[in-house]
Amino acid sequence: MIKIENLTKKFKNNVIFENLNAEVNKGDVISLLGPSGAGKSTFLRCINMLGEPTSGKILLNGKDLVSSSAKELIQLRTKIGMVFQGFNLFENKSVLDNITLAPIKVKGMTKEAAENKAHELLKTVGLDNKANVFPASLSGGQAQRVAIVRALAMDPEVILFDEPTSALDPEKVGEVLNVMKELAKQDMTMIIVTHEMEFAKNVSDQIWFMDEGKLQEKQTPDGFFNQPQTENAKRFLSKMI
Ligand SMILES: Nc1ncnc2c1ncn2[C@@H]1O[C@H](COP(=O)(O)OP(=O)(O)OP(=O)(O)O)[C@@H](O)[C@H]1O
Ligand SMILES: [Mg+2]
Repeated sequence: MIKIENLTKKFKNNVIFENLNAEVNKGDVISLLGPSGAGKSTFLRCINMLGEPTSGKILLNGKDLVSSSAKELIQLRTKIGMVFQGFNLFENKSVLDNITLAPIKVKGMTKEAAENKAHELLKTVGLDNKANVFPASLSGGQAQRVAIVRALAMDPEVILFDEPTSALDPEKVGEVLNVMKELAKQDMTMIIVTHEMEFAKNVSDQIWFMDEGKLQEKQTPDGFFNQPQTENAKRFLSKMI
């Protein structure tokens, strides 16, 4: 469903990563791991073109995002949801408006249809009673569940998560991971940057390990955690455990 070909990103002369190749199939849950500064966020931002790659291709169902026109890109990007560490909700809009904004504006849904769908999705994460409040009154765990619902409201084909639980109080981490586990069960395609090793081990189909500008390992969680192939991965894991 997603194919990444020879993807390279430089900031001026600084090569962040070079010639990455990877493939994501429908329903795959991928955990993207690696040390701080490895380029994980930069890579995720390239996948949905929030950051422009220096060269290479990102094919979504065969269509290259990198060479698409601005107009095509608006449509293609509706298929790629994104959830950030810091939630990035609009503080001056209600939870409901946060969720319905893009479906109405970008997908042309009617307000009524978008709101019905928003309520339905909020129910699935236990937050329908928060539809009319503003983000400031939510806990971190609630805000992140709303951010996930906002991504789901667009019916994405894939959701990218950049450390969705890193900003949360420890006791709130579980409620967000549970929502993500539920999505995995429902076969949502996801690429997740995370430091939650147990989650990565138990929920992922594949681990991608990024270090020194390369995807050094792409393998099953079992393989990665029990038999890492590279010295970098071994070092990374020894620091994690
Ligand atoms: N806009 C930018 N301009 C210049 N350099 C950048 C920019 N964004 C990121 N970088 C550099 O790219 C490298 C990778 O950063 P990135 O944030 O992608 O790492 P990361 O793997 O997500 O790290 P972390 O685990 O700490 O979030 C870093 O050296 C960073 O300084
Ligand atoms: Mg990052």
